Amino acid sequence: MKLKRRELEISYDDTGGSQTALLLIHGFPLDRTLWSAQTSALSDVSRVIAPDLRGFGESPLPRGAVTMDTYADDLHDLLDALRIPRVVVAGLSMGGYIAFAFYRKYASSVRALILADTRSMPDSPEVKKGRDDSAALVRDKGAAAVAEKMFPKMLTPQTITAHAEVANAVRTLMSRQPAEGVIAALIALRDRPDSTPTLAQVVVPTLIVVGAEDTLTPPKDSEQMRDGIRGAQLAVIPNAAHLSNLEQPEAFNQAVRKFLKTL
Ligand code: MLT
Repeated sequence: MKLKRRELEISYDDTGGSQTALLLIHGFPLDRTLWSAQTSALSDVSRVIAPDLRGFGESPLPRGAVTMDTYADDLHDLLDALRIPRVVVAGLSMGGYIAFAFYRKYASSVRALILADTRSMPDSPEVKKGRDDSAALVRDKGAAAVAEKMFPKMLTPQTITAHAEVANAVRTLMSRQPAEGVIAALIALRDRPDSTPTLAQVVVPTLIVVGAEDTLTPPKDSEQMRDGIRGAQLAVIPNAAHLSNLEQPEAFNQAVRKFLKTL
């Protein structure tokens, strides 16, 4: 499905139809198909909305700079068009950074938060420099070069060796993202604010999920978020790295399903 508003065009999946609505925000450099194992499996417990962020998947990149707030505004426009006043906001990695931005701007639209394989801290100076290097690499060699660099951190070594079909699907998903969208996101990632002060402001039920073997946003970052958000629960998914929802969909879905039932 497609939302068109002024210069904005957002492609999204919309499945299920219960009272609760779940918004799934993908990470970098990915698109809404990251959530394929969630959109169908969770549609019996909630309406599931999975958009392509601007510049990713089938959503084009309008002119102008992009920040985490830009993505959050787009998602708010989408929910507004769909007449969904309150939603469970779930974001993986960059999706989590966007979930924090969304919460800061639109707290009254948030029924609950799910923060998967993400962190509240901003980039260190070294990581910021790495974002600039990656943007230069994309300009030079295309998005696939950055995808190749990041790929080994997305899944566990066991999955990469024993499940070539999963590894190939993730590689393809990462390398097909449009270069201009990837560059815009790298700048938004580099310049994102510190969301650590936001932790104490969260007053909605929060579930934090992390792959036990996530090295990009390791479990200690999740523990820090759990300790900072009042009443937050943490689910650590065994045999999963950064894309815990894709690598261990059953365990991930079970944690989300259990959480949604408590709302
Ligand atoms: C992501 O998965 O969205 C990215 O790895 C986030 C990041 O690089 O900080």
